[in-house]
Amino acid sequence: MTKETTLQYQALQKGGPFALVSVPKPEPGPGEVSIRLKVIGLNPLDWKKLHIGEIVPSWPCVFGLDGAGIVEAVGHGVRDFKPGDEVFSLFGHELRASSFQEIAIVSEHFVGKRPENLTFEEAATLPICYLTAAASIYYALKIPLPFLPEGETSGPQPSTILVLGGSSGVGASAIQILRLALPTSVILTTSSPQHHEHLRSLGASEAFDRTSPNLVEDIKSHTPGGKGVEMIIDAVASAAKQTSIFEVLAEGGPKEYAEVFTGVKIEVPDGVKRNVAFGRNMFQMPGGKHAITALAELVRQGKYRVPLQIQNAGNGFEAIARGLEDLRKGVSGTKLVVTV
Ligand SMILES: NC(=O)c1ccc[n+]([C@@H]2O[C@H](COP(=O)([O-])OP(=O)(O)OC[C@H]3O[C@@H](n4cnc5c(N)ncnc54)[C@H](OP(=O)(O)O)[C@@H]3O)[C@@H](O)[C@H]2O)c1
Repeated sequence: MTKETTLQYQALQKGGPFALVSVPKPEPGPGEVSIRLKVIGLNPLDWKKLHIGEIVPSWPCVFGLDGAGIVEAVGHGVRDFKPGDEVFSLFGHELRASSFQEIAIVSEHFVGKRPENLTFEEAATLPICYLTAAASIYYALKIPLPFLPEGETSGPQPSTILVLGGSSGVGASAIQILRLALPTSVILTTSSPQHHEHLRSLGASEAFDRTSPNLVEDIKSHTPGGKGVEMIIDAVASAAKQTSIFEVLAEGGPKEYAEVFTGVKIEVPDGVKRNVAFGRNMFQMPGGKHAITALAELVRQGKYRVPLQIQNAGNGFEAIARGLEDLRKGVSGTKLVVTV
C-alpha cells in the first residue's frame, strides 16, 4: 500500500527559494486537529523568517501563522471539532503546524469554527493579529478581557490609552478589543490619514497623522486636562524611531508601555514600564485557551469586525513568495491572503 502524501511549501534556505515538496501525510495526536488549508493569511513574521532567519530552527523550513480550511481528522479527546467542519486557526511554530502546506496539525485550542458571516478569506486573516493585540492588552498591561470565559475579571482600567500603528493588523485589532474591554475610555491611535475614519469606526476616539511634527501635542490635547495617556500599545515598533512619543505618557500615571515584539530594538526611558507581548502569551493567561472560540463568537455577534481590507495575492502556493515580497516592501491597512 502506498503511503498518503501531502504538499509542503518549503523555504529551502535563508532568502529562498521555495519549493513545493511532497511529504508523508501527518496524523493528529491527542488534542490535535488536522486542517486542509483553503486560504492562507500572510504576516510580516513570514518574510522576516525568510530574509532574516528570525526564529528559524533549521532549513528547509515551513512558515505560515494564519489560515482557514476544512477539518481533515481529529486526534483522541477532541470533542469540539469533527472532519468536514469549516474552521480558521492559528498555525505555526512547528513545521507540521505551519500553514504554508496542504494539511497542517494544530492544537485544538488554536482552532475556531468559521463564523457564518465571514468568508474563508476573511477568517484566515484574523488569528495572529487578534491574539497579539489581546496579549498586549491582557498579558502585557493586565487589562481584563470581559469576553473571555474563565478570564481575569479585575485589573487596571485606564481611562486613556494610545495605540501606535492603528492601521496595522495588530493595531486595528487592538482598537476593537480595547473598545470592548474599556467601553468609556479615551482610545487614541496613529496612522496615515487615509485610515482615520476606518479606525474611528472600529472604536478609536480619535486618530492622528503619525508623521505630524506636533504629534505629542496633538495627542495630549485630546486627553482630559491635556495631561496625556496612561498607557501605550506599540503595534509596529514606532517608538524605535519616534523616541519623543513617550512624552505623551501622563506624569504621575502608571506609564505603561506594551511593546508588540517585532524584532526591532526599542529604547525605553527611565520610569516607563515596558512589557513585551507575543500572540502566544494568550495561551498562558487565565481563560486564554478560549481566546479563538471567543473571537468566533464576537464575530458572529457583530462585536468584532475584520480589521483591515483584504487583498488576494493569488491562487496556489507559488503566490506566497510574491505575496511575501509585497509584504516586505510594505502594505498600508491591508492584509494579504493566498487561496490554495
Ligand atoms: N510578537 C508577536 O507575536 C507578533 C505577532 C504578529 C505580528 N507581530 C509584529 O507586529 C508588527 C505588526 O504586524 P502587522 O501584521 O499588524 O503589520 P502590518 O499590518 O503589515 O503593518 C503595516 C502598517 O504599519 C503601519 N506603520 C508602520 N510604521 C508605523 C509607524 N511608525 N507608526 C504608525 N504606524 C506605522 C502602516 O501604517 P500607515 O500605512 O497607516 O502609515 C501600515 O498600515 C510586525 O512587526 C510583526 O512582525 C508580532
